[in-house]
Formats: sequence, C-alpha cells, structure tokens
Amino acid sequence: MADKRTPDPTGLDVLWREEDYFYPSAKFIGQANLTDPSIFERFALENMPDAFREYADLLSWDKYWEKTLDTSDPPFWKWFVGGRLNAAYNCIDRHLATQRNKTAIHFVGEPENEATEHITYQELWVRVNEFAALLKDMGLKAGDRVTIHMPMVPELPISMLACARLGVIHSVVFGGFSGKAAGERADDSQSRLLITMDSYWRAGKLLDHKEKADIAYDESEKAGHKLDAVLIWQRYPGKYSSPTTLVEGRDVVVNDRLTSFRGRRVKPVSMPAEAPLFLMYTSGTTGRPKGMQHSIGGYLSYVTGTSKFIQDLQPEDVYWCMADIGWITGHSYIVYGPLALGASTVMYEGAPTFPDPGRPWRIAEELGVTIFHTSPTAVRSLRKVGPDEPAKYTYHFKHMTTVGEPIEPEVWRWYYDVVGKREAVIVDTWWQTETGGFLCSTTPALHKMKPGSAGPAVPGIHPIIYDDDGNVVPKGSGRAGNICIQNPWPGLAQTIWGQPERFVETYFARYCKDRSSTDWRDWPYLAGDAAVQAEDGYFRILGRIDDVINVAGHRLGTKEIESAALTVKEVAEAAVVPAKDEIKGVMPELYVSLHPGYEATEALQKKIVDAVATELGPIAKPRHVWVVPDMPKTRSGKIMRRVLRSLSDKGDAGDVTTLANPEVVDAIRSQVEN
Ligand code: WTA
Repeated sequence: MADKRTPDPTGLDVLWREEDYFYPSAKFIGQANLTDPSIFERFALENMPDAFREYADLLSWDKYWEKTLDTSDPPFWKWFVGGRLNAAYNCIDRHLATQRNKTAIHFVGEPENEATEHITYQELWVRVNEFAALLKDMGLKAGDRVTIHMPMVPELPISMLACARLGVIHSVVFGGFSGKAAGERADDSQSRLLITMDSYWRAGKLLDHKEKADIAYDESEKAGHKLDAVLIWQRYPGKYSSPTTLVEGRDVVVNDRLTSFRGRRVKPVSMPAEAPLFLMYTSGTTGRPKGMQHSIGGYLSYVTGTSKFIQDLQPEDVYWCMADIGWITGHSYIVYGPLALGASTVMYEGAPTFPDPGRPWRIAEELGVTIFHTSPTAVRSLRKVGPDEPAKYTYHFKHMTTVGEPIEPEVWRWYYDVVGKREAVIVDTWWQTETGGFLCSTTPALHKMKPGSAGPAVPGIHPIIYDDDGNVVPKGSGRAGNICIQNPWPGLAQTIWGQPERFVETYFARYCKDRSSTDWRDWPYLAGDAAVQAEDGYFRILGRIDDVINVAGHRLGTKEIESAALTVKEVAEAAVVPAKDEIKGVMPELYVSLHPGYEATEALQKKIVDAVATELGPIAKPRHVWVVPDMPKTRSGKIMRRVLRSLSDKGDAGDVTTLANPEVVDAIRSQVEN
C-alpha cells in the first residue's frame, strides 16, 4: 500500500486532524474575477482539452491556432498548434495603448534608505527593447539558450523579457545557487551567454556575485561547453561594485555597452506557440538536474488564466509575490502571469526579516499591496521573530497565497488572523516546476478554505490518486497514494531538455495504460507527491515519493547533496535525509562514513558542509553532518535512509532486525542523541 511506503517528510498525516472551514467575505466575493461556478462544468473532464481555449483567449496572438491539442507524439503534448505569438509583446507592448504610465514593477531594494523604483510599462518596454537590441547585436537569435544567474533586481525580468522578445530560450538559475551549479546548467543547456550581476544586497551585506560567474564559466568549459561571453549588470549603474576583476574579451559590462543602444527598438519575433519560452532546472532522483522546458503559448496561457482566476489579479491591485524569480513561482507569478494581465508586480531584493521582521508589512503599507503571496517557511519565520509586527502597519490584503510546501493549520491561522487581519482569503496552491502553474487550490470566491489542505483542483485539472498497484484510492478512504493528473493542461512542461526518455519515465511510465496510444486518457501525469483526498474532495499533499527534499519550499535532490559530500576525499559513503525543522519544514541532515585511516574531526565536518555549499549553494547546507562508523544497510547493501531519518527526528527506527548490521543503529542513535 502506498501509505506504508511513501515517505512523508512532514508527518502530517499522523498529526493533523480534520479542520474547520473558513469562508471568503462578501466583500471579496463582490469584487472577484471568478464568481460563476459554471467554470467547473466548462472545464469538466469531458470538455478537455478544448476548454483551455478560454485561457489562450486572454492572450494576443499574431496568428490564431488551428488545433488546441496535438497528441500525435505522446506524452509530448503540443498546445495551440499553428498559433503564433510573442511573450514579451503580451507582457508589455499590448498594454502600452491603455496604461503606458502604469507601474509594471515596483522594485524595493534591501537598503531601506534607497528609494523604491516604480518602473512603468513604458519604461519596461524601453529597457527591454534596448537590452534585446544588445543581445541581437551579439548574434543571439530565436532558439538559442542563455543562462541567467541573477539576484532579485528589475534587470532580471528585463533580461528574461528581452530573451522572450527575440525567441531566445532563457534558463534562470536561482541567484543563491553556487557558480558551479550555474555552470553545470549552462553546459547542460548549451547556453551561449551567461547573464549575471556584479553584486547584490542580502541581510545587510553587499555580496560579491561576479565571483560566481567566473566559477560558472570555468565549470561549463570543463564540462566541454564554452560560453561566448559573460554579461554583467551593475547593481549601481555606472559603478562596478565587485572586487572580482573583469576578464578582458569575455566579460561585458551591460550598463556600459547599453549606452550605444539608447533608443533602439526590436520588433518582437513572432514565435510558434509550441516553441520553448524557458528552461527551469529542478532536482530529481539522479545527480543530474532536469531542465524542464516550458512553451510560449501553453505556458503563458496557463499562468495568465490562473493569475486571473486564482490570484484574482485585477487592474487596481498591487500584487506582491515574495518569492524569488529564480524558482518557478517567480517565473509564473511574479513575471509572466501578472505582466500578461497588465498588473503591478512588486519585487523585493532582500531578506524578509531585514532589518527587522516588520519589513514586509512596511513595504505592504507603503505600496498599498492588496495581494500577498509567499511560502509557509517565510510565514513560520515571520511569525516566530515578529508575531505582533503586522498589527503595527495599516495595509489591507484582500487575498493571500501560500506555495511550495504544506502549511500547518496553526501557522495558517496566524497568517489568516494576524497577517490577513481576517480580511483576506487564503489560497494554498499545490503545484510544481514541471506543471507551470497551480494544480490544486481553492478558487477564492467559490470555495471555503480548510487550513492545511491545498483544496480541490483548479479548473481544468483532474487529479486522481492511485495506489502502487494502479487501483484508484477513493476520496474519504483515509488512505494515501500517488497523486496524478488525468488530463494534459497547457502549463505542463513539454519535455526535459536533452532527456526526453527521462521525461517519459519519470512522469508517465508508472501509470501509462498503453504506450502506443495517442489518446491522452491513457497517459496520467505522475506528480511525485503522496496525497490523501478527504470526503469533501479536498487534497492534502503529504510529501515527495522520490529522492527529493523540499527545504523551505525549494527542491533539492538527495543525490545532488550526496555527490557533493563525496567530492571530499575522506568520505566513503554519504546519505542525506530530511529532518523535521521548526521553521523550514525540513532540513537536510547528512550521514557520512569515512575511508579507513581518517578520523571524524570538526574540521572535516566543516569541510563537508563547505563542499555542499560550493557544489550547490548555501541553501543546500546540511543542518548537521554525522560522521558514523558505518551506514545501516540491507543485506543487499542498500543504505536504509528511512532508519537514518527516524534517528534524525529522534523517532522510532522501526524494525531493524533485517539489516545486515543492526548493531550500528544503536551506535548512531547514541551519537545523534548526545
Ligand atoms: C511541494 C514549487 C504541499 C510538493 C511550486 C511538490 C507542496 C514540490 C505545495 C514542488 C503545497 C508545492 N502543499 N506541498 N501547497 N506546493 N509543494 O518544483 O512536494 O519547487 O512536488 O515547485 O513542492 O516544488 P517546486
């Protein structure tokens, strides 16, 4: 049975009881975009895929499509085939006629003495055009790839949109990731350029970011791929703010070079709907990250539709998604969805609790934010360090979102009562890098809320839970299983860049009814999460069924962390497990055994932690490294991570008598408990 085998990093299924409902206010319902429940009939399973025409009609097409869904090469679905459009045109140009002077991006830098920038649609258009002209001048053309490794500054979406204007495929790597990680991804995508920035502010420090570009360049070259050039934006235009020297002939300071492109305009390239818009790398079960490839027409339709109906984005709203654009959440719900709707979107550079935990609420008050979107980790940490801060500020949210991880009902209630002041509806959105946009969430004006549950599916998404034998697990059974989506939807990634077989194997092979079938009904999408559906139809997501750890809503592959540890020569074996954490949900804890002749020292532990930070980035740093005499193993030699995990959580290790070396469990336990 799935619920016996599937890891549940949170333990939610045991700890959480059924919760009471909360209802959206009449005031919210009165103004909402989506109040007509017939949408669920229009988007019923029998109306798939044609119903998604409604989402595509939110966009401006150069040429209308001929076929809604082409299933001839399953499961590589093609949406809106024959249609042509440009994503940057849809996010910028088409709004100029009516709202040239409206703020597209409010940029709040971390230093509080720096003025907020309000970038109008006109200014965004000018800056994207000039940068697109620069890229074009460097020979970039539709279909080329570019790796962008940048902090949360407006130049990041400007770079993305300039690529989109030319049909260039961008691959944004989270700025907090290491140079090495950026370099590996630049190689995997065979990027022509690396776009980066000299420095940025984080928790009161101006961090050198350019140093990572040098590492990324070398890493990519070592892997066999030479980047044409490295483009460096300046955090303070006109001033190079990094101690790392520039490499002549390779490094281009964007702000200098841009002066020759003043006033230049580039016609948006009319692209096929099914051409790729971007790659977004995410972790899976192997050490090699997966470059999820998202399309222009399908993806943009889906994030625009869900921004309108689930985020309830309206022209007067000031919308703040306090996430990083380096993750899928930021792509879909800071940049593409909001801008396609012509909204005002807020970007904040720094740490949420800098210089104090009142910062987010000051920003909300100053900008008049009406929609607020963040992760449960951020909510937990703001609650812990500043539980009374929201009451000190006079903002009013109508709508709030959580994303990326389950939120404990108790934390949800603080979010609702204190942050939302009981005025805001909350949507708990469950989805993935692969899925482009939301899968499960309440529809804010139509559904009641239930703390701790992502809710039912959003329109046009038809989940089903299967057990390991392929039987349907019915709602209300109290049993968990593998949550799948029965139908294709336009936001689903098209493939894994360069690894199409892995795409089929990872997401479809498990429950495919007939590999030769071109009927999408035979190809349910396996999300890779365990879930349980309550009697009321609401889904509770229990956690990953694969070797992925979800730290603070960010996906890390256990294999990636383990291989990083194995780069330390003393380390013979490494196993990483998700250990419960009060703020971050879970944190990686690393168990290693050493080659003979080496001793466990503090210096060695530090060396291992540093190796992980260098290979992947500080976000992947283990909370603790335990150097153990031996790993608990099955007779066939497999490391029993389940046992290690229960030791980390100070829980019961269960039956260990079948292990090859049961005695080691007690030895590790006494180590961990002291
Ligand atoms: C988890 C983030 C519970 C889940 C958008 C999923 C969630 C993984 C929720 C994807 C939620 C995401 N409740 N768990 N509301 N949202 N997850 O690719 O395990 O970074 O598979 O995309 O996060 O993480 P990713």
